[in-house]
Amino acid sequence: MLIALGCDHAGFVLKREIIEFLNSLGHKVIDCGCFSSQSCDYPDYAVPVANYVSKGKADRGVLICGTGMGMGIIANKIRGIRAAVCYSDETAKLASEHNKANVLCLGVRTSNADDMKRRIKIWLETQFAGDRHQKRLDKIRYFENKHCKKSIL
Ligand code: RB5
Repeated sequence: MLIALGCDHAGFVLKREIIEFLNSLGHKVIDCGCFSSQSCDYPDYAVPVANYVSKGKADRGVLICGTGMGMGIIANKIRGIRAAVCYSDETAKLASEHNKANVLCLGVRTSNADDMKRRIKIWLETQFAGDRHQKRLDKIRYFENKHCKKSIL
């Protein structure tokens, strides 16, 4: 897969390791920054990642900040994005199985590098269950089409 990855200064400490991990699984990574541990603002990195995914220019997105929450909040404002903040193996699994999450948001304050790698792998390898869950995704898409601007960019 082609995976867009972004982080803020909090996530920067693990960025290189996570990129290498994704490469070791055979995935290609688009590095959307940040590029140093200097304090920065997570929306500046979440939006490019979400855009890659929204436009079909990346298959999935991974976002890393302190908690994953800021990244998730902004990523979910981009059309077609289903960003999930995952803080356990179980939430990573269900994010794919039930929500077909196309962006995974992780936090360095809630998980270490091994946790993140394990959760990324679970999220990437778990299949969407479809069926009643597809009906719910259809309702999200319907809401987006009805109430959200075609593109915010
Ligand atoms: C940065 O200090 C921190 O607020 C950010 O990384 C993230 O946790 C926000 O949700």
